[in-house]
Amino acid sequence: MDPTRDNPLIRIKAFFDGLGILTLFAVLLLLILGIGALAGWFRKGEEPEDAAGKIRYEISDEVQASQQAFLSKEQIGAAVEAVAQTLSESKPVAIKKPEQMVPGSDTAMALADAPPVDTTAIDAPPEDADAPIDPAQMEIGKTQFLVCGACHGQNGEGGPAGPPLAGSEWVTGPVSNLILIQLRGLKGPIEIAGKVYEFPAGMTPMGYQTDEQIAGALTYIRNSFGNKASAVKPEQVAAMRGEVGKPQLTVEELTKP
Ligand code: HEC
Repeated sequence: MDPTRDNPLIRIKAFFDGLGILTLFAVLLLLILGIGALAGWFRKGEEPEDAAGKIRYEISDEVQASQQAFLSKEQIGAAVEAVAQTLSESKPVAIKKPEQMVPGSDTAMALADAPPVDTTAIDAPPEDADAPIDPAQMEIGKTQFLVCGACHGQNGEGGPAGPPLAGSEWVTGPVSNLILIQLRGLKGPIEIAGKVYEFPAGMTPMGYQTDEQIAGALTYIRNSFGNKASAVKPEQVAAMRGEVGKPQLTVEELTKP
């Protein structure tokens, strides 16, 4: 017979060993439950499935709202029909404008060889030189000048892309110069009010405007920013339309102001 089995001391030890292990399990269990409860408290009761469900509802509401905001099939059909009707009724006409000429083309080359227009009549002092400037013409000019102002400054003060127009003898000088500059552009060094300016690209021609608009813009610069000179007439611009398409001017081709 095993002598230890009846030893009471060994039995008591075994009892307490068992009790110890059980206590250990109990503590572990409490710990796990505690962590679980704590994590739940941090999530503030919102389950991930609930959150995802909420987002799905929001998306579905949004889709429904945008679908209701769409035009109906009938409305779209009516709009397409109206556009088709206008298109079939309007008759497009081919336009041939000299300012659409390709640089270097035969037409452009032939124009370049054409004799310059006689500017004596255009530059002769007008009889009504002292007549007050028509406010309506200044109004047209002011609008047209917005483009010019991009390079010359909205107050004609000049800037990184263009010389000043304020106080420029070219602006208040012969009218033909101004019309020529606008119809053909200008490049190379230019002296303005005693200062020489040189811009790498020069000024591009801007002949796409109507005679009235060009005359307006030029009258505007001649009578703004402290400048004062006679108005430019649309007829004067019309008389020089033949210059459109010729190469960019240099100062030597202009009449010295
Ligand atoms: C893309 C920039 C640009 C625009 C836009 C522009 N110009 Fe110019 N302009 C120039 C430059 C650069 C010169 C100097 C050309 C040269 O190199 O000799 C010049 C020169 C002139 C000159 C002669 C010099 C002076 O300052 O008095 C006049 C006048 C002039 N432009 C008027 C106009 C008018 C009017 C418009 C609008 C219809 C216009 N410009 C639009 C860049 C521009």
